Amino acid sequence: MRTHLKRLVVCCSGSGSNLQALIDSEIGFNIVGVIVDRPCFAQERAKQANIDVVCVDRSVYENPDDFHTRIKAAVDAFVPDGIILAGYLSILRTEMTQAYHMRIINIHPSILPLFGGKGFYGSRVHQAVLDAGCKITGATVHFVETGVDQGPIIAQRCIPVYAADTVDDIAQRIHPVEHQLLIESVQLFCQSRLTVHGRMVFIEDEK
Ligand code: GRF
Repeated sequence: MRTHLKRLVVCCSGSGSNLQALIDSEIGFNIVGVIVDRPCFAQERAKQANIDVVCVDRSVYENPDDFHTRIKAAVDAFVPDGIILAGYLSILRTEMTQAYHMRIINIHPSILPLFGGKGFYGSRVHQAVLDAGCKITGATVHFVETGVDQGPIIAQRCIPVYAADTVDDIAQRIHPVEHQLLIESVQLFCQSRLTVHGRMVFIEDEK
């Protein structure tokens, strides 16, 4: 029996190295579109890979309602099976998280629920890890519910934190781990092997 390749939209705000990892992974899915909320290098990566890219630039919308309406329209137009937030800094509203319930996946560079939520993005996450004197940190991939960095956890992986580490050291050590974790999680999603019961995500064995 042939099943169609899952159609994914990837949303980005920055360098797009996680997007690139998905593009390069060549696993069974189809990235039908990339949406960015500001001009960023992820756009170039999408263009290089011949993927449609839409910039819904948040800075040009005076009314946030208009921005969110436009984002949802841009996503809907691709008729996606799933949406991957790969370094996307805009917070999705309930109309989006409900319309794509358990079909939106986010990657965050810490072991959630630690160092997540409003204000924890980019180097701020790693600075907070250092300020707390943690000996480990890591990455989390989770389904997205309304709220920042909220939703059932699909996968987590740890990295060590060394006493002499800088924010950049942690960022560099964590990036390849994030890429691998995101690829694995997206693959499980695309194989329809993830089921959610309450807060817990169950992973079905491969058939
Ligand atoms: C990653 O650290 C990701 O966890 C976070 O934003 C960063 C995006 O990096 N949500 P990149 O743009 O994929 O390189």
